[in-house]
Amino acid sequence: MNIRTLSTQIYQTILSGNVDTRFDTIPDQQERAFAKKLIFTALRKQTFIKKVIGRYSSKQLPQKLGLEQIALILGTTEILYLHTPEYAVVSSYVDIAKNLGNKYAGGFVNAILRKICQDKDSILQALNIPFFSKNFRHILQPDYTAKQIAAIEKYAALEPPLDLTVKTNPEQWAETLGGKIMPNNSIRLYTAGAVSQLPGYQEGAWWVQDFASSLAVTALGNIKGKNVLDLCAAPGGKTAQLINAGAIVTAVDISEPRLQTLKENLKRLELKAKNIICSDAIIFLQHNNESFDVIMLDAPCSATGTLRRHPEIVHTKTINDVIQSTKLQQQMLDAVIPHLKKNGILLYSVCSLAKDEGEKQIGSFVKTHPEFKIIPITPSTLFGNNILPEVITPEGFVRCLPSILGKEGGMDGFFIAVLQKE
Ligand SMILES: C[S@@+](CC[C@H](N)C(=O)[O-])C[C@H]1O[C@@H](n2cnc3c(N)ncnc32)[C@H](O)[C@@H]1O
Repeated sequence: MNIRTLSTQIYQTILSGNVDTRFDTIPDQQERAFAKKLIFTALRKQTFIKKVIGRYSSKQLPQKLGLEQIALILGTTEILYLHTPEYAVVSSYVDIAKNLGNKYAGGFVNAILRKICQDKDSILQALNIPFFSKNFRHILQPDYTAKQIAAIEKYAALEPPLDLTVKTNPEQWAETLGGKIMPNNSIRLYTAGAVSQLPGYQEGAWWVQDFASSLAVTALGNIKGKNVLDLCAAPGGKTAQLINAGAIVTAVDISEPRLQTLKENLKRLELKAKNIICSDAIIFLQHNNESFDVIMLDAPCSATGTLRRHPEIVHTKTINDVIQSTKLQQQMLDAVIPHLKKNGILLYSVCSLAKDEGEKQIGSFVKTHPEFKIIPITPSTLFGNNILPEVITPEGFVRCLPSILGKEGGMDGFFIAVLQKE
């Protein structure tokens, strides 16, 4: 199957919410790189491209896109952003639309792509090229000002850098990899290529983890020798950090395939967990009497904070996803309580931009559970000195946004709270 047809099908799978879509099923390295570039550019520009297509068509594209409509979006992406010769684009996507769509689709795609080729320069002069869909904007509007949303949108639409967490020697690895050391000793690479080909990958010197995500374990301070329950642990970025910091870790996750990735990661890194258990977190807690010094709940969430690497999120998530996640998080928080030792620490984090899943979730948890107090996180807990105070909220939570350090590559949207059971 040719790579444009395959990309059209992968695009549909991604939009259907399959977060684990694997590009490594494309054997040819160059074709894989092309498919990734095409698909991620199209996802970042889709809101704008749909508007452009709407200008030339009597009907707006529907919310749920068919394969012929995806072919049109990918064709437009190539014409406007990838600089592919126009004759190659139009004929390829007309064929795809004919083969994958209905018998009228070829003519429709042909007519629209030809008009877009003609008007390319004037289309690209548009000042405002939106990234967020209406539904996605609705998720953010209760929590952020128009100015904050505009900044998040601007920086989240850019291709993010690659952040690595190192086991030791950040300076040495930054030099070897040609990266920049971040305030938390993560290493940021602006151009990377295939991760598994980078120095240090085979010998397990580092793992891929966004800067924001790596702050959760750092917020715990010294955890050497502590008994830690890592709930919702896969694929294991934070598990690796916990073990690397000397904790004795029980890792639990509901997903067998994701736990398999966790195991492979820990093996490559030569890090050992005490236990790795495949279970629903709540069922595990109900059937276990053990109590822990620290429980880390990196809860399932709307994942809206990961929109830079998963731009499909801005087209697929709605406020209902936030509401559903909020309920599950609340149940998990309640289930954790009996398993914390006296003075034990609960670390709660989510890769969500919605405050219902973060600030408001924990705000109402401490109100209804007065035995828990917030341990304020400070810049010096995270970075050893007073840098990046903008990631700390007045309550002492961490709130990361893609717009913070935007010019240096930004970070995922992320929330972290540290609570102590008295
Ligand atoms: C945000 S990811 C965790 C990321 C992970 N902590 C890390 O740092 O690599 C959320 C995880 O929650 C898991 N999950 C979802 N529902 C769950 C449940 N009811 N019980 C346990 N794990 C669950 C998912 O399989 C997913 O791996």
